[in-house]
Amino acid sequence: MTLAESHEELLVKTYQPPVNSGRIPSDKKPWITSMDEYNSMYKESLDSPDTFWRKMASELVEFTKPYQQVTSGSLHNGDTQWFVGGELNVSYNCVDRWARDTPDNVAISFEPDAPGGKRTVTFKELLENVCRVAGMFKTLGLKKGDTVAVYMPMIPETAYVLLACTRLGLVHTVVFAGFSATSLADRIKDANASVIVTSDQGLRGGKLIHTKKIVDEAIKLSGDVVKNVIVFERTGASDITYVEGRDVMWGPLFKQQASYIPPVPVGSEDPMFILYTSGSTGKPKGLVHTTAGYLVGAAMTSKYTFDLHIGDVFCCTADIGWITGHTYVVYGPLALGVTSVIFESVPTFPDASRFWQMVDEHKVTQFYTAPTAIRALRRLGDSYINCCDLSTLRIIGTVGEPINPEAWVWYHYVVGDGKAVVVDTYWQSETGSHIITPLPFATPTKPGSATLPMFGIELAILDPADGKELEGNDVTGVLAVKRSWPSMARTIVGDHDRYLSTYMHVYKDVYFTGDGAMRDSDGYYWIKGRVDDVINVSGHRISTAEIESALIVDNNVSESAVIGVEDEITGQAIFAYVTTPKGVVDSEEVKKAMIQTVRKEIGPIATPKRIIIVDELPKTRSGKIIRRVLRKIAAGEEDQLGDLSTLADPSILDVLVKKVRAG
Ligand code: PRX
Repeated sequence: MTLAESHEELLVKTYQPPVNSGRIPSDKKPWITSMDEYNSMYKESLDSPDTFWRKMASELVEFTKPYQQVTSGSLHNGDTQWFVGGELNVSYNCVDRWARDTPDNVAISFEPDAPGGKRTVTFKELLENVCRVAGMFKTLGLKKGDTVAVYMPMIPETAYVLLACTRLGLVHTVVFAGFSATSLADRIKDANASVIVTSDQGLRGGKLIHTKKIVDEAIKLSGDVVKNVIVFERTGASDITYVEGRDVMWGPLFKQQASYIPPVPVGSEDPMFILYTSGSTGKPKGLVHTTAGYLVGAAMTSKYTFDLHIGDVFCCTADIGWITGHTYVVYGPLALGVTSVIFESVPTFPDASRFWQMVDEHKVTQFYTAPTAIRALRRLGDSYINCCDLSTLRIIGTVGEPINPEAWVWYHYVVGDGKAVVVDTYWQSETGSHIITPLPFATPTKPGSATLPMFGIELAILDPADGKELEGNDVTGVLAVKRSWPSMARTIVGDHDRYLSTYMHVYKDVYFTGDGAMRDSDGYYWIKGRVDDVINVSGHRISTAEIESALIVDNNVSESAVIGVEDEITGQAIFAYVTTPKGVVDSEEVKKAMIQTVRKEIGPIATPKRIIIVDELPKTRSGKIIRRVLRKIAAGEEDQLGDLSTLADPSILDVLVKKVRAG
């Protein structure tokens, strides 16, 4: 920070990429170093996509059978294909070729929940471990195309499981180990997963997570879909239930397996994994990602957004249960032969220096986390950072929600010492990899803007009312993508119509992101957040309908309306208005029980921050809840309720306002 600049100036200025930050080792010359290079590659990606993607694919991925055609299909028809007719194996690309070329390089550097237990796994060891897990799957009779559910903590074994699935052409569906038994059961049934891999327990921030117990409950709820459960012994707890004939302990079975099992080639468009995400309605969507396009997208964005080189140590703090963990903990860095740090804990355990201790300990060169963590750590003060040597950091990234300029500036100056470049990356579970992001040594950055499109991504801002494209700069509307790209999700499990209606047919011939966005006078993109009924809490997507369906399970809830409210730390927080049956007393106990119901139905990520019990919800005459009014009242903006002509009973508003104010 120069003395000439005030704090206010820092928030709005444009940051030039560092020419010489003193942090770029001579053997790690950045891949892209100027806007001219970015512009010419971007132009080629749109003008000559076949040439561009052929180059990318051959630079990043090995195919066992060449593809005949780069791409086919259209957004409108929802039948996009990439690298058509080719064959490859993801596990081979992420493991075998590095075990061959750089066997002793570290593939995974593990930072367990309790500090001080760092463990490393080389590429040679990774290959053996992945093969043994693949052997376990074969022993259980799993075959190409079968689905395996994964409900695991953040440990190296979770990465082995994913890579073992892709080694055999099995489809994995990872469920974040914070989801409840009910949520897990829904996903198991929907994805038709015959095997679940879990651990006896998990550890997070010093607390035990009873993963196996939750899996047992989920299996009870999911009928007879699941045939086997593989249980990794994370804590060695003696009191877990073991179901004879169904449950298999990892340890003994793993040891029996061969140390090498050949990778099975799969088609470019064969499904690679299913990942559930929240949409506008109550039922989560099982997005299907396919093999070659996803891998090329993961590898390309990892390479260029994070400027990854062999020898780098990349740390993405996201859980493998989310898309960020899939792409940037497992597949992206490993496809490039780079070390990936797996972090089992939370940013504040045992104290708020945990991230930075880890960066110091593992000598992390690229660090990737969420704005919510940055905001929370910033609030706790700089003293937690000053204790650690963070001088290895070249690039520090954020993802999951808009980052406010204050947090961006703190990240850059305090964490990055003004020398590490901030990359604010915008993307979604559906996009598979970054679609808007700066390139660290080329793109000038502005705090709060994800900047410019990634290669191959042709963006449009549309007028939400009529879908017309808003040309030129200084425009605000909804964000869409005008052509397909390799790593986009291809369908929703069992519901291609929903895929078409959610993404492809909302507006004509484009993919609709569900986000509002502004393109400024320099052509930079500023994401404004979701325009649908999806709340983003700490970067996690949850639909309001999902929470409402969970609340209604509570006997004391007659009806509910859930909205998102602004929150300083989590970005948005969940705010629920509920009505109760006659005779239910409005008390803290009753509300606490409702919160417990939601946690049990969905999981702790869906915990409402506030519940307000009201006599009536504001509705139109036809009975539709007017959420706009509820949002304004929750935000304390009851003087800006707008047009109330459709409201059936305006007299209820005063009571609502009083209740919200009273807390
Ligand atoms: O609203 C956008 C927000 O997160 C949504 C995607 O959520 P999910 O599928 O869970 O994936 C999260 C991680 C990729 C988007 O629709 N979002 C993601 N990244 C950003 C963002 N909003 C603003 N800026 C970002 N960098």
